[in-house]
Amino acid sequence: MRVLFVGDVVAGPGLRAVALHLPDIRRRYDWVIINGENAAGGKGLDRKSYRILREAGADLVTLGNHAWDRKGVYDLIDREPVIRAANYPPGTPGQGWWVLERGGFRLLVFQVMGRVFMGLFDDPFRTADRILEEVPHDAAIVEIHAEATSEKYALGHYLDGRVAAVLGTHTHVPTLDAGFLPRGTAFQSDVGMTGTYNSVIGGDINTFLDRFLTSRPQPFRSAEGAASFLATELVFSGTRVQAISPYRWEEP
Ligand SMILES: [Fe+2]
Repeated sequence: MRVLFVGDVVAGPGLRAVALHLPDIRRRYDWVIINGENAAGGKGLDRKSYRILREAGADLVTLGNHAWDRKGVYDLIDREPVIRAANYPPGTPGQGWWVLERGGFRLLVFQVMGRVFMGLFDDPFRTADRILEEVPHDAAIVEIHAEATSEKYALGHYLDGRVAAVLGTHTHVPTLDAGFLPRGTAFQSDVGMTGTYNSVIGGDINTFLDRFLTSRPQPFRSAEGAASFLATELVFSGTRVQAISPYRWEEP
């Protein structure tokens, strides 16, 4: 089994990179999972951005802290392969996990949100325990959508040996630590973003500078410019990951 996990797709440039590049490489993978929480103009996921991700080849789209920024997500989350973080309180719309199945192999995928600098969520560690216990699966990929590298590593070690991979998202900056934890779980603290890097995490540079220079909130504006497609490839041997490799493509 080969899985491609595409890092946070940010706004127009990110969607363009996915639409331009993913169809060319799609057949190398059994499954493609994409974080789409910044796809609609940098904040949230709407039907149009979702369709672009799916038509390019996504099997599953994950969300994050911007999950609820677009009203259209409420339709998607009940009908389509779209998941939000699993550690929202009970009763939250949608689903926090998904099982991708092929040839009898059940790949459980779920996302938990970190709590450090992120907000009020249920415990991501115990949420992971509960899902692993309750949902039948052969292998699991866990996405930790979090700000703090410490929290991502703590979750990685907490789940080491129990899941195939723990991949971080949200900071939009790729890390060079893709590898294996001592008990064999593949880990990378951040996959990085698919969008334009001539920006501040995908946002317009001047708008972000104004936030820092004036200490006043500014409306989010996404950056324009050539995009990078960043992802992480997972190659499975049975239920474990045998190889983890960052993947990068640049828009010409
Ligand atoms: Fe995020």
